[in-house]
Amino acid sequence: MLILDGKTASNEIKTELKAIVQQFVLEGKRSPHLAAILIGKNSASETYVASKVKNCEEIGFRSTLIRFDENVAESELLQAIAFLNADPEVDGILVQLPLPKHISEQKVIEAISPLKDVDGFHPVSVGKLVQGLPTFIPATPYGIMLMLEHFSIETKGKHAVVIGRSNIVGRPMSILLSSNLKRGNCTVTLCHSHTPNLKEICLQADLLVAALGKPEFVKADMVKEGAIVIDVGISRVDDPTAKKGYRIKGDVAFAEVAPKTAAITPVPGGVGLMTIAGLLKNTLQAYTNSL
Ligand code: GUN
Repeated sequence: MLILDGKTASNEIKTELKAIVQQFVLEGKRSPHLAAILIGKNSASETYVASKVKNCEEIGFRSTLIRFDENVAESELLQAIAFLNADPEVDGILVQLPLPKHISEQKVIEAISPLKDVDGFHPVSVGKLVQGLPTFIPATPYGIMLMLEHFSIETKGKHAVVIGRSNIVGRPMSILLSSNLKRGNCTVTLCHSHTPNLKEICLQADLLVAALGKPEFVKADMVKEGAIVIDVGISRVDDPTAKKGYRIKGDVAFAEVAPKTAAITPVPGGVGLMTIAGLLKNTLQAYTNSL
């Protein structure tokens, strides 16, 4: 069984990106610039955004973090996005989700210029993805594709089962795996909360992507011997014995599932790190598109 280590895979990508940025800077150009907007005090979101900003700095990107109070008016947020859209020195814009209830996620996503949509959530980006056109791929599915590439995992002709149909992960993942790409060409089944016989379908998976957000949902009796398992879950589960009072758990019961698999991603240290790599690659793409 192979552990698909996100650290080595993401570090390799970051090293490549750092060298590319250094070359641009040597040529007298400015650095790529990611602007992140964080609203409220969601501690998981705080952690994710801090990690995105830190990773930008590590590879020589500029980053700007804009914070808003939980009660910010939707109009104020939309105005900030318009300002970033118009700034020629901002390449990528991301608004960390989830948003407070009084703000329309759809309005916010559609306010971001598709040219700077490094999360790949804008309907224009999604439409291009579906049609197989060059676009910004949502960072987590993109990171998973990069991981499959890093570990030379053959996907052609395999049955991929994706659990979860979110716009952020499951849906775009199902599109990528079914697309005519080097790490695509799978036959894909997209499962969700209304799927009957989920266990039977999972047992048919050569490649199983768990992205439903329920800690340790996927058990050993749902996984075929020799399958490849990608765990997208990052739930915080209370644990008074842990230093922070919680532990991060994936959607897969790793200890019992791992021995059955050909390859599996750990949590933490798997897909999460690849998500950042995907975001950084999108930001560099937005930058080079604008040159
Ligand atoms: N919340 C959870 N995942 C993501 C992501 O990839 N991008 C943004 N903006 N918010 C998220």
